[in-house]
Formats: sequence, structure tokens, C-alpha cells
Amino acid sequence: MDIERLRREFPARRIHHYPSVDSTMRSAVGLEPGSVVLAGEQTAGQGRHGRSWHSEAGSGIYCSIVLKPMPVLTLTLGLATADAIARSTGIVCDLRWPNDVMLAGKKVAGILVQLADGNAIAGIGINVNHSSFPPELASAATSLRLHTGAPVSLTDIVLTLLPAIDAFVELDKDTILRLFTRASSYAAGRRVTVEQPEGIIEGTTAGLDPAGFLIVRQDDGTDTLIVAGGVRAAGS
Ligand code: BTN
Repeated sequence: MDIERLRREFPARRIHHYPSVDSTMRSAVGLEPGSVVLAGEQTAGQGRHGRSWHSEAGSGIYCSIVLKPMPVLTLTLGLATADAIARSTGIVCDLRWPNDVMLAGKKVAGILVQLADGNAIAGIGINVNHSSFPPELASAATSLRLHTGAPVSLTDIVLTLLPAIDAFVELDKDTILRLFTRASSYAAGRRVTVEQPEGIIEGTTAGLDPAGFLIVRQDDGTDTLIVAGGVRAAGS
């Protein structure tokens, strides 16, 4: 990744780069809002729900950005990431609520938001030039390169990602909910299973509530509000 070019294009931002780091989430704690941390690889990349994030050296974008907390930030970041991928590569992704970026049914990018010192640390991982994944991830993960068959510029994606985030965080909550509903095949009318504390439920998605939570309508007509992830296409 061409870090000097990024610093030239965004002179007002603090852009920190580590060839190798445990997790950009940890490195971003305590930095001022607007700061960006990028890494060539992560040795302890963090995913949602305590999972790890596969962070192969040189193949992906491993990025944390310090932001002010705002409503529906996770949905906002998913939209910004999909927008940046579309603008920089022409590839149109789907969004699996709340913020998995999907390509041909597999996950191509993930987002993790953590609060620290009154700021939101927005962690974005994009699988860009991976040519394969470990066996345990292979059925669920893909990369832009695996999809197109050609290498993709990490720098070009980051050049569009930072302005996309700046633009999407300016939008109000209702606009984000409307854009997400339009961009995501999971928001309404999708048959899904969802891991809940009481077990797995199956139903059809029925839109987002005003707080951005996903409504799943089970076959007996019961609506369940899904407040955390664990949503999968039924039968997958
Ligand atoms: C998910 O599980 O979908 C969220 C994945 C988030 C991964 C990114 S990579 C950059 C940042 N640093 C981390 O350790 N995790 C996030």
C-alpha cells in the first residue's frame, strides 16, 4: 500500500502505518478523532463476537479509524465500505445485516466498532488480494481478487474509503436506514436463520426498526427484533 500517497491525498489526517501489528483496534485507542491506523498484517486481528480476523500479510486492508460515536454507525460503515469498493473496483456488494459486506454469498469485508475514551474505533477489514483462505474459512470468505480473477489496488480502495466514510457519517439516521434497506438483500423479504440466545430461529426479514434493528417474522407471525448479528441466509 502506498502510504505516502495516502498522506499526500489526506494531509489533514493522521495516518499511522504498521507493517505488522497485533490489531489496529488496539493501536487506534487514544488517538484523536479522524486518525487512521493501517497495517500490512495483523497477528491478532479481531472479529465480531470474540472471533479472530484472518489478516494475511499484504493481501487485505486492515484499517481502524477514530470517529465520534453516532447512531447506526455500524450500518453506516457497511454502506461506506460497499460504496468505496464499488467506486474503486466497479464490484457491487451486498450487505448482510448489520455490517457484513458480501460478494456472491461469501463475506468479503467485515466491520467491528468498539468504544474507547468516548470515541468509536471503526475497524474495517477488506479481503482484497487473498488467493485462498484457510479451510475453516474457505466456504464463507472470499476476496475481491478471487471474484474478479485479477489483483486489485489496496491504495485505490483506501483512497475512496476515507472520503466515503466522511460522507456517510454526515447523513442522518433515517437516510442511512433507507440507503441500507435499498442496498441490502437481507433487509426485507429474505429467508434467514438467526442465532439467538434461546436457540436458532428461522423466518423472513421484514425491514429495520427505527433504531436500525432487524425485524424477522417467523412463520407463526411472531416478529423478533434482532439486536446483534448471527443472521445467515436460510439453507446456507
Ligand atoms: C467481523 O467479524 O466481521 C469484523 C472484522 C473486523 C476486522 C477489522 S481488520 C481491521 C480492524 N482490526 C481488527 O483487529 N479488526 C478490525
